[in-house]
Amino acid sequence: LMKGIILAGGKGTRLYPSTKAVSKQLMPIYDKPMVYYPLATLIEAGIHEILIITTPEDMPLFKSLLGDGSRIGCSFSYVEQPEPNGLAQAFILGKDFIQNDPVALILGDNLFYGTHFIEQLKKHASYDGGMIFASKVSDPHRYGIVQFDANRKAIDIEEKPTHPKSTYAVPGIYFYDNTVVEKAKQLKPSARGELEITDLNRLYMDENRLHVEVLDPGTAWLDTGTIESLMEASQFVQVIQSRQGILIGAIEAAAYHSGAIDKPQLSLLADELEKTVYGTYLKSLISE
Ligand code: G1P
Repeated sequence: LMKGIILAGGKGTRLYPSTKAVSKQLMPIYDKPMVYYPLATLIEAGIHEILIITTPEDMPLFKSLLGDGSRIGCSFSYVEQPEPNGLAQAFILGKDFIQNDPVALILGDNLFYGTHFIEQLKKHASYDGGMIFASKVSDPHRYGIVQFDANRKAIDIEEKPTHPKSTYAVPGIYFYDNTVVEKAKQLKPSARGELEITDLNRLYMDENRLHVEVLDPGTAWLDTGTIESLMEASQFVQVIQSRQGILIGAIEAAAYHSGAIDKPQLSLLADELEKTVYGTYLKSLISE
């Protein structure tokens, strides 16, 4: 069974002073904490056993927000990442959690939206090897960049290249078989002192076992690394929600849709949020 890891570490220095006392991934994106969005994505895809990796300082805050997950039919556990030593370190820190299972990693500051995306995720939930996505961006120097040959086969992948060979960026959601733990242990820190997810993906690529899927064009991928992108993400959520009368990133709704909780439990959770649009929305799902 596929397990999930949310990486919500780092110091968020690019968003100072807002993130000096509060974790970046707990800052609101419009009407809910940032971490709700990636969490809802995993849950919606049917991944209900989730490890949350945070800094030691932020961990109590995440615990008071999310608890052990049982209220939404999930299991949440926690591990500290004391220093920002890279995304790939998640698999070393998460070794005891992963055990012999395949695992998905999602970054706590990445937001995905699109119904086809969830279908795309479910299809590949048991992929043998590694499975990542690619999506066109206007600022390729900020991301991991993948290069395709004429047959859309991924032939190279580089982290934040100065001279990008394509504009296909790798978004912050990754699916791996169980060999990921051993692979992560082989990695050496990069020039910026981190265990790079890009180097991990290269190991799968060397084995010819890295599958790169181009994101469905109807899927929105937003990151929140800068003040501008944070603001854009809030605006995006606000526009979609008010126009379509839905909520993006509602973990209770994701749990309900993916069968983790039943109607009575959803109703209980909705009651607690009664005075908000959020609560009203959850209530509306019950009568649908
Ligand atoms: C990280 C990864 C990069 C990926 C990006 C997605 O970048 O290293 O490959 O494209 O997340 O958000 P960072 O968060 O370190 O800037």
